[in-house]
Amino acid sequence: DKDALVVFTPSGKRGRFPLGTPLLKCARQLGVDIDSVCGGRGLCGRCQVQIGEGDFAKHAISSRAGNASAWNESEARYHARKGIKPGRRLSCQVQLLGDLLVDVPADSQVHKQVVRKRAEVRNIELDPAIRLHYVEVEQPDMHNPSGDLERLLQALERQWGVTGINIQGLNVDLRVLQGLQQALREADWKVTVAVHRGQVLTTIWPGFRDKAYGVAIDIGSTTVAAHLCDLASGEVLASSGIMNPQIRFGEDLMSRVSYVMMNPGGDKEMTQALREGLNRLIAEVCSEAGIAPTDILNATFVGNPIMHHLLLGIDPTELGGAPFALTFNSGITLWAEQLDLQLAPDARVYVLPCIAGHVGADAAGVILSEQPHLREEVSLVVDVGTNAEIILGNRHRLLACSSPTGPAFEGAQISSGQRAAPGAIERVRIDPVTLEPRFKVIGSDFWSDEAGFADSIKRIGITGICGSGIIEVLAELFLAGVILSDGTIDGAAAARSPRIQLDGRTYAYLLHEPAHPEEPRVVITQTDVRAIQLAKAALYAGIQLLMDRFGVEKVDRIQLAGAFGSHIDVKYAMALGMLPDCDLEQVSSAGNAAGTGARIALLNQKARDEIEQVVKRVEKVETAVEPRFQEHFVAAMAIPHRNAPYPELGK
Ligand code: FES
Repeated sequence: DKDALVVFTPSGKRGRFPLGTPLLKCARQLGVDIDSVCGGRGLCGRCQVQIGEGDFAKHAISSRAGNASAWNESEARYHARKGIKPGRRLSCQVQLLGDLLVDVPADSQVHKQVVRKRAEVRNIELDPAIRLHYVEVEQPDMHNPSGDLERLLQALERQWGVTGINIQGLNVDLRVLQGLQQALREADWKVTVAVHRGQVLTTIWPGFRDKAYGVAIDIGSTTVAAHLCDLASGEVLASSGIMNPQIRFGEDLMSRVSYVMMNPGGDKEMTQALREGLNRLIAEVCSEAGIAPTDILNATFVGNPIMHHLLLGIDPTELGGAPFALTFNSGITLWAEQLDLQLAPDARVYVLPCIAGHVGADAAGVILSEQPHLREEVSLVVDVGTNAEIILGNRHRLLACSSPTGPAFEGAQISSGQRAAPGAIERVRIDPVTLEPRFKVIGSDFWSDEAGFADSIKRIGITGICGSGIIEVLAELFLAGVILSDGTIDGAAAARSPRIQLDGRTYAYLLHEPAHPEEPRVVITQTDVRAIQLAKAALYAGIQLLMDRFGVEKVDRIQLAGAFGSHIDVKYAMALGMLPDCDLEQVSSAGNAAGTGARIALLNQKARDEIEQVVKRVEKVETAVEPRFQEHFVAAMAIPHRNAPYPELGK
């Protein structure tokens, strides 16, 4: 008997190998997923396995020295540096001496699942675009002359199976060539290289290296958020956000486009402001994680079409008016340097594809994150910002449009409105008889009628009302009969409560009378109600257009993405007629789905190919030219709606 059976769990893959075969080699031949950066030299520690107890565990392991169950020198050295957990071995150092059961722990798998924080749709399969490979290169030989690069590429092919790197095809960055000879000679012909998508040599370091980082960035018109990730583990090491520095050129997207139209060179100013902001943000997440920005080898970006164009330094004027032509539709891979980003000198950047002139790479990120294209049920995914981006469909067909909701849902253009920040009223309940309110303020854990409330808001104060608060007040007033179906605040309600007050020729509801003169009164006026009606009618009409086009009367599930989506109480959104009827159990918040999509594209290169394909088959619906949009809009102005029923809400 010169061979033995080895069984790997959890995959269940098994095979017979000659005694003395290193376990890592058995795993490779069976297609078992075990990570390695050093190529089996006992340096990286990525290939750890747990030697199983079961039927096969006849203490059949041995170090190369033949010393049963004891570490060999490499393992002992690695243990002294980084530690090996009890029962674990480096699979590249252990040889098979008899039948054996071996467990591959999750953290040793290349394609490990990165667990996402909330109850998320899917975990991310780790398969980053940048891989590090440690190689030992042959020294030059006078009798068999060849260049250092040729020998490096041969070693890469032999030791890692990496083929297809071809210097004529721009597959080796110039800086790698410039540093190549020194790197090889500095560490005794041992180097680590970074390979982008299995095809391009982007970086070389002398000796062994196993740290690679990436950053995923979501550029919103208001805020920019970054997640710094360890590309080996998929872990998020630090996250942070800044205000988009372009705000000083205009609050919303259209005013930024107008700025470009009125000020020649205005696009360049905004591009520069954004890129400077990005460098500040990246420096911040790096310092939090204790690494340098130059350790970042890969970055991904999502953003709406105008942010997308300005990031790339493309004039967004065409996106400001019909027919809203994008410069290009696909994703793009660039050098970070081309975007003035201070990452590793040859770091690569991937910008996700835009879908249409109004539906950007952020929506592509939302699709990657929420995966409507993989389900049989019909999903409605809504990302509410200044524009609502709406995606509807299933694995057979996917539609997208954007609807001009305006900024009312974000608290703008509302008399006491503000962004969701400490001090903003975010939850409201109104007694249907007395019309007395109770509310909660962001930054306090108490309702306004609870004992701890006054103390808890001493520092933050009450500064206004945010989008979710407005939705709740309006829905509560509607349910109490104060707001009529056409949106009028009914003057007759003034007889029920002094909170209903005459305000010019219409009526208003006094939500909060301040205790201190420096605090504002929080009042809901008739104009505020109209602003929300217009916004919700635009949202509903956009959704209805897509439902018509798709041919469904009811959607199976609704996901609300974005900050607004995560704050809002869906019951109230539905009571007001913002969303179509749906089983409430099937309505959920998707959090910052666009940012999650950027993270998926960072950690999984195949997701990039996937989204490029999906985006091509999304049917774009342009609300501005659809005659039925106006009709749907008018019907949706009524609260909850002129004719759409809400049977689920009654359940
Ligand atoms: Fe690197 Fe085993 S493969 S330590």
